[in-house]
Amino acid sequence: MSEDLTIVQGDKTAQYENLLPQIKGLLEGESDLIANLANVAAAIHQQFQHLWVGFYWVKGEELVLGPFQGPIACTRIKKGKGVCGTAWEKSTTLIVPDVEKFPGHIACSSLSKSEIVLPLMKSGTVQGVLDIDSTEYATFDEIDAHYLSAIVNLIPL
Ligand code: SME
Repeated sequence: MSEDLTIVQGDKTAQYENLLPQIKGLLEGESDLIANLANVAAAIHQQFQHLWVGFYWVKGEELVLGPFQGPIACTRIKKGKGVCGTAWEKSTTLIVPDVEKFPGHIACSSLSKSEIVLPLMKSGTVQGVLDIDSTEYATFDEIDAHYLSAIVNLIPL
């Protein structure tokens, strides 16, 4: 495994195309979930410098804060609550261009303006979610959903 991530500038697709094989390399030969979630969060954060990149993991009826990069965050989210809890309940990716317009959005940081949340699935069940927050409105789109889905699908669950 290479110790340094190679960061590229350019459009979003070019950035993801550069990042994806490096994340594949980071995950190869490592089966520990916490280690892999931690490195995936760090790699996405290093490339894009988003406000917050991290995971919440399903524990019983709640999501519990997992490995992340960024400011401190709320530790527990109930099913159906906020963007993360809704993505979990509906087993679907949510792209939120303006968090203030999302009913029930949980504001961990007042700096967060837009957000994307993807569920991580195993055998049809949500195991956890990847949550990314941006200080800009409308940061995330279908390109992010596509590549972030490819990234989380690399994580052995
Ligand atoms: N905004 C999220 C909560 C998690 S923080 O953004 C890190 C939500 O509404 O679920």
